[in-house]
Amino acid sequence: MKIVTVIGARPQFIKASALSKLIGKQKNVNEIIIHTGQHYDHEMSSIFFKELNIPKPKYNLNIKSKYHGAMTGKMMKGIEKILLKEKPNYTLVYGDTNSTLAGALASKKLHIPVIHIEAGLRSYNKKMPEEINRVLTDHCSDILFTPSKLAVQNLKHEGIQQNSISNVGDILYDIFLSVYKNLVKNKKIYDILVTIHRAENTNSKSKMLNIINNLNKLSKEYNILFPMHPRTKKTMGQYKILKLLSKKIKVIKPLSYEQVIYYLKYAKLLITDSGGMQKEAFFAKTQTLTIREETEWPETIVAKYNRLVNPKENLIYNSTKKYISSKGNSSKPYGNGKTAKLIFKIIKNKATN
Ligand code: UD1
Repeated sequence: MKIVTVIGARPQFIKASALSKLIGKQKNVNEIIIHTGQHYDHEMSSIFFKELNIPKPKYNLNIKSKYHGAMTGKMMKGIEKILLKEKPNYTLVYGDTNSTLAGALASKKLHIPVIHIEAGLRSYNKKMPEEINRVLTDHCSDILFTPSKLAVQNLKHEGIQQNSISNVGDILYDIFLSVYKNLVKNKKIYDILVTIHRAENTNSKSKMLNIINNLNKLSKEYNILFPMHPRTKKTMGQYKILKLLSKKIKVIKPLSYEQVIYYLKYAKLLITDSGGMQKEAFFAKTQTLTIREETEWPETIVAKYNRLVNPKENLIYNSTKKYISSKGNSSKPYGNGKTAKLIFKIIKNKATN
């Protein structure tokens, strides 16, 4: 069996590490990795291949950020060429980035079945590029692996055939567990970890100003670490507001995976707009404020580890004071950390039937 896996952005490298390692051990399965090049900085890409031991991509399309249409189109063109040459049995994609959609569409148009890992998530906010990507990807996928029961329901409501859906849990939990259990306290810890990168926040000067003002206020009482995504740095630079951030806040480059989990484990609170980090904080039992209007991971809110906070007035500051010492409920809505094995077993069964 031959599988072409298309990845391109930071969270996909992390998710791919679990399954690609497993496939690498199989005799009769050949995985070919295409890196679209969507993320290209060392801290956004190669660091993860090294740290998480991900097999080297056979192809790198080197498609750096452009407008979304141009980016996705160029990716499709490059992926199609490779699919025609490699003739895989399946194309495998993760999540909801432009790389995900490009891989799924290029493959489906060649009648090569698509496997989508992390299917069925919805924010129901069609202004998010990720929402468009995930809906379209799900609707051209043949094998859909969901991380939660709610994701299964979402797919069923959209008329997707039940027998193409398998609820396998969250593959990120596999990787989280393998890193988390080996952590030792060996460097400075921070009370609050901050990550902001979503277009809906970074593209709004008033939202970014509000985030800065709230963080500055918090920095008088708490140690804050802010690993900054290149998009955030770029737009804050364009708005000329980067220098307004208090010197007390430690701003650094994006972190490696192990470092993220380290700071999360020992932080009291996470302030984020990342999807993956909402769950990683939940797995680490760290309280979270999500700076968005909706989340694809409502289970973390039900468990009282997460809440949605608008970047308006003093809401981030007030919510921090309210929740930083609160306790959540224990629940396990995202499987048992053996998702990669389950996914592989199901793919193998489908391929031989
Ligand atoms: C993308 C995904 C988002 C995911 C995120 C993870 C889409 C639509 N969005 O957002 O779902 O949560 O990845 O990080 O696919 N840049 C660099 N170096 C890099 C990567 C990006 O400088 O290595 C800069 C580029 O100048 C670019 C900006 O960051 O303009 C945004 O990058 P892009 O790939 O468009 O989207 P992300 O914001 O990273």
